[in-house]
Amino acid sequence: MSEPENVVDPTVQSEEEQLDRTLRPRTLQDYIGQEQVRANLNILLEAARRRGEPVEHVLLSGPPGLGKTTLANIIANELGVSIKTSSGPAIDHAGALASILTNLNDRDVLFLDEIHRLNKVVEEALYPAMEDFTFDIVLGKGAGATSARLPLAHFTCVGATTRQGLLSGPMRDRFGAAFRLEFYSEPELERIVRRSARLLELQIEPSAATELARRSRGTPRIANRLLRRVRDYAQVRAEGVATQEVTIRTLEMLDVDELGLEALDRRLLETVIHNFRGGPVGLDTIATSLAEEPETIEDVHEPFLIQCGLLARTARGRVVTELAYQHLGLTPPASNPAQQTLL
Ligand code: ADE
Repeated sequence: MSEPENVVDPTVQSEEEQLDRTLRPRTLQDYIGQEQVRANLNILLEAARRRGEPVEHVLLSGPPGLGKTTLANIIANELGVSIKTSSGPAIDHAGALASILTNLNDRDVLFLDEIHRLNKVVEEALYPAMEDFTFDIVLGKGAGATSARLPLAHFTCVGATTRQGLLSGPMRDRFGAAFRLEFYSEPELERIVRRSARLLELQIEPSAATELARRSRGTPRIANRLLRRVRDYAQVRAEGVATQEVTIRTLEMLDVDELGLEALDRRLLETVIHNFRGGPVGLDTIATSLAEEPETIEDVHEPFLIQCGLLARTARGRVVTELAYQHLGLTPPASNPAQQTLL
């Protein structure tokens, strides 16, 4: 049997990106969840506005799909400035960075996604840009080469990373504010689902919104993606109304289970259980067994499995928990002393 479309990988880009963007809130007022981040950002933006200064550089970290890009756009929108967007891997040489930086105006937002993936040369060229708003360029080659210092606009860099741990110390130090986004609670996701349904002009039963919120892995991007699938199903099979039955049927067809786990999440747990006796086993070994990239496993799948208490990370590798056996309908082994001491 072929696996269903990977609906729960928040990094997957599709033509539906456009629709996803229309569902994103544009102001802090409309933003649901991440209360602490919102409150801190509110103060940061208001203080900068009152002083007529650019906002300090802001670092946003957390698993994909939790709203880092949305918040960067909100920051620019709230300040009434433009936003330029790029990403670590896209800026492959200092010249590319120079052309982005020299096109910024005072107070503009430069959103750098996956900032932990900037190469060393580009990263080092970014330091004086962020700190002193200058860019050092080398003119000419060899013995006759000279350098010049270009003044830059006083911009605000909003950096985003799925893994703050991978960011170098000097890079982290250049951000005046750093916020970590957490998984959303079910009531928050329910509000997001209801708001999105309203924007999509979809009639949704309260119990259907609850069901979707429960199975969206704490991630608004997944909630919105699943909601669009429910809308399709409702249109084709149920006169356009998203009932709880329609929602459950849609999720079943997409192989999303009661906890929101998709096929690959379950395969990951099953692999650790069946091939590695529940662990401990290293990330690379798991990734090889699943024929997936270790980064995808670590960034997309693991954080939620850990949050749910199905998987644990130890110094010697990953270990499944008793809860994982129960969730998969398996009997946990009587005892595994290696794991007992690890957990
Ligand atoms: N859509 C996606 N994320 C959202 C959020 N945090 N609040 C409101 N709507 C959203």
